[in-house]
Amino acid sequence: MDLFEYQARDLFESYGVPVLAGIVVETPEEAKAAASKLGGTVVVKAQVKTGGRGKAGGVKVVHNPEDAESAAKQILGMDIKGHIVRKVMIAAGAKIDREFYFSVLLDRANRSYLSLCSVEGGMEIEVLAVERPEALARVEVDPATGIDSNKAKEILQKARFPEELISKAAPVIVKLYEVYKGEDATLVEVNPLVLTADGEIVALDGKISLDNNAAFRHPEHEALEDVASEDPLEAKAKAADLNYVKLDGSVGVIGNGAGLVMSTLDVVAYAGEKYGGVKPANFLDIGGGASAEVMASGLDVILGDSQVKAVFVNVFGGITACDAVANGIVGALAKLGANANKPLVVRLDGNNVEEGRRILKEANHPLVTLANTMDEGADKAAKLAAA
Ligand SMILES: Nc1ncnc2c1ncn2[C@@H]1O[C@H](COP(=O)(O)OP(=O)(O)O)[C@@H](O)[C@H]1O
Ligand SMILES: [Mg+2]
Repeated sequence: MDLFEYQARDLFESYGVPVLAGIVVETPEEAKAAASKLGGTVVVKAQVKTGGRGKAGGVKVVHNPEDAESAAKQILGMDIKGHIVRKVMIAAGAKIDREFYFSVLLDRANRSYLSLCSVEGGMEIEVLAVERPEALARVEVDPATGIDSNKAKEILQKARFPEELISKAAPVIVKLYEVYKGEDATLVEVNPLVLTADGEIVALDGKISLDNNAAFRHPEHEALEDVASEDPLEAKAKAADLNYVKLDGSVGVIGNGAGLVMSTLDVVAYAGEKYGGVKPANFLDIGGGASAEVMASGLDVILGDSQVKAVFVNVFGGITACDAVANGIVGALAKLGANANKPLVVRLDGNNVEEGRRILKEANHPLVTLANTMDEGADKAAKLAAA
C-alpha cells in the first residue's frame, strides 16, 4: 500500500524526522483557514499517490490565505496522471537552500535493502538515474544491521554531501531508516530532503510504501487505507476476504487457485476474439474451500459489476471435491435469489466430478449451463456475454 504525502509526513513526525507543519483539507475554504492558521508563506500541495505533482501544477507557493484558497480551488479536482485530487495539504513554506534525494527500499533482486542518495534532489529520480547515474549513490544496506550513524555517513559520503552537512544529515537518515524498519515499509523516499536557509535538514516530500505482507503486525495501518478512491467492487471483495481484481471486460470469472484463474483469463480473452473482442471482467480466486458462502460472496461481487454480461465458473476439484463445489454453487444461487440475474457457465473437473455434475444437472437452475472443458466453457461464456 502506498501512502499519501501527508500520511508519510505524519509518520515521519512520529519518528522524529524533521518535517514542516502541514494541514490536510478538502475544500478551498478549509484551505484558507489552514493557511491563516499556519501564517506567512504556505504551499498548497495536491495529495495524490503519484510523483511529479509539482510539474503538473499540483504544488503552489502562496503568500496569503486568499491565494491559498484560490490555489486549492484550482488544485482540488485536478487530474494528475489519472489521479483525481480530493485533498490538498497546506504546508508551511520552507526557504530552500539546497535540495537532496534519499531513499531506502527493498531490493528484491539482491535479497537485500538498498539506499539511494544524491545531492541533486528535487528532480525526478528516474530521470536522474538515467541521465546522470554518477550523481546517484547506491549503497547496499544489510537488513541485519540496517542504517546506524556510521552507515548513514557512508551513504552521505558516497552521495558527495558537503563535509559540514554530513553530521547534520546523518541523524535524519538514521530516523528515516527507523521509519522503514518500524513500519515494515518497502520504500521510504524523501525528495526533496532540503537544507533550509536556517541550516536545518528537513524532509519536504515523503513517499512510503508499506509491505502488505506485514499488515498483520500493523493493525494501525488499516486506518491509512484510502477507502474513498478504492474501487467499490474491490472494497466489497476485500471485506469478504476475496482475492479479486477488477478488469475491464464483460465475462466474470471465478476459479480456485491463482494459476487456474490466470489461465482462465487467457482462455476467455482468446475465446472472446471470435465474438468481437469479449474480455474477462475480473480476476477472482476463491481458493481452497469453495463453500456455498464463499461462492455466494464471490458471485455477489461479480454480479454487482454492471459490465458483466455472463459468468464463467471454472473449478478444479482437489481437496475440496466437485460435489462440494456444486453444492456451493447451488447454495449460492439460492442465497442470492433474484440477485443472481446473469447466465453462468460452469466447468467442473477433478475429484468427484461425476457427482458434481449430477448435482448441478439435478438442480437445473435456469441460469446455469454446464461445460465439459475449459475451452468449451470459455467459448460459451464469451458467446453469452457478446449476445
Ligand atoms: N513546504 C514547501 N516549501 C517550499 N517549497 C516546497 C515545499 N514543498 C515542496 N516544495 C517545492 O516544490 C517541489 C515539488 O514538491 P514535491 O513535494 O517534491 O512534489 P512532487 O515531487 O510530487 O513534484 C519541491 O522540489 C520543492 O522545491
Ligand atoms: Mg517530490
